[in-house]
Amino acid sequence: MQDSLEIPAHLNQMLDPYELVDPLREASPVCRVRNAEGLDAWMITRHADVVRVLTDARFSVDSRNAAVTARQTIEATHSRTVESFADSILATDPPEHTWIRKAVARGLTPNRLRELRVFITETIEQLLARLDGATQFDLVADFASPLSLQVSAHLMGVPTDDLPQLARWSYDLMLMPKDQSARTTADAGMAQLEDYFRALIERHSPHANHDLLATLIAARDAGEITPAQLLATAKFVFVAAHDTTGALISATMFHVLRQNGALNSLVSDPRLISNAIEECLRFDTPVPLPVTFFATENVTLGGVTIAAGDQVFAAIGAANRDPRVVETPAEFHIQREHPAHLSFGLGIHYCLGAQLARLEASAALEALIEHHPHLRLAVPAHKVPWRPTVTRVLHALPVVSSPPYE
Ligand code: HEM
Repeated sequence: MQDSLEIPAHLNQMLDPYELVDPLREASPVCRVRNAEGLDAWMITRHADVVRVLTDARFSVDSRNAAVTARQTIEATHSRTVESFADSILATDPPEHTWIRKAVARGLTPNRLRELRVFITETIEQLLARLDGATQFDLVADFASPLSLQVSAHLMGVPTDDLPQLARWSYDLMLMPKDQSARTTADAGMAQLEDYFRALIERHSPHANHDLLATLIAARDAGEITPAQLLATAKFVFVAAHDTTGALISATMFHVLRQNGALNSLVSDPRLISNAIEECLRFDTPVPLPVTFFATENVTLGGVTIAAGDQVFAAIGAANRDPRVVETPAEFHIQREHPAHLSFGLGIHYCLGAQLARLEASAALEALIEHHPHLRLAVPAHKVPWRPTVTRVLHALPVVSSPPYE
């Protein structure tokens, strides 16, 4: 057994998670780690190995497959947030996973996406109208965050009036459990979000509504999914849809604005916008360390034996920067064609919202750049704050929009 490497409670929260995972990928690609909460795991950092973990059925997402000692640590350290997602689509193995996935997919059909596209365009126009004439604004608070929240609410059938409190609870529940106070805040956020969705499910009619929540309720009524899976998955999709997509929109603009001439290239050739989004997904994904797996039997990976019951972190962010699959991986290039990345996962849990996220991000950036072709960062890049949350999200992105003649 290797000695354990001490790592922070969660990589995503590090200002630069790549400082830790880049050297690991070369020196110890299947590395025994112990996080600040005392949780032992294997950190997998090479692209080919991460693909293996994401696609090999011997790795389960269900924490009941953890070894007894690991399970005790998980139970002692995990917040309510983690527990309350345990019945969600992301933490369920087949055969139940297949049923939940089918139900969620029914709420994301091409017709539904077309209807969402109209809503997305209208919402973007409204948000940009409010910024008309503004010379300085916060691209997170004034644009990316309200857009992604409203789209997620529309997708799920959540009333818009409830969004301010839902935004607060989702922010709280994503807080890193780095001390007792953060854990208490996160737990309270989750409890409130759970109560909210429980009440919404009670009064939401699958006959009168055509949103994703109505689809999930119909699946419960048909006996395809359990009430616990309905509640956990509804909460999960609401949070997963807005937090990550908002993060992608602001992070793409951040990396574009950090680079001389990149915005001009997008203005003169808007087709490059989707390249920039894919490159941001590769270079700085909102979810660099998403999924925890548990080996259900002994598995050898990179010459190392992972024992049944061991916990495994598939470091997607590290895999995205593996020089074995991408040239100059530590550089952000908007010209890069189809950058290979695993930011939406792979295999049976591949992100069901990937198409929606791409659609929303490209519509947002196209319109933003058209309205504000002369944006620049209002503070030095190293002063732009990141949130202390489980996902990698900018806390704010202050920008200056100057008129064309300046
Ligand atoms: C930039 C935006 C997004 C990123 C980076 C992202 C990333 C991910 C990742 C890494 C996974 C796990 C995949 C795996 O384990 O193989 C996932 C799963 C999932 N995502 Fe996303 N996601 C995004 C947006 C969305 C949106 C907009 C929705 C809304 C519908 C969504 C819904 C889901 C669902 C339902 C799953 C679970 C799929 C399953 O377990 O079968 N995601 N996402």
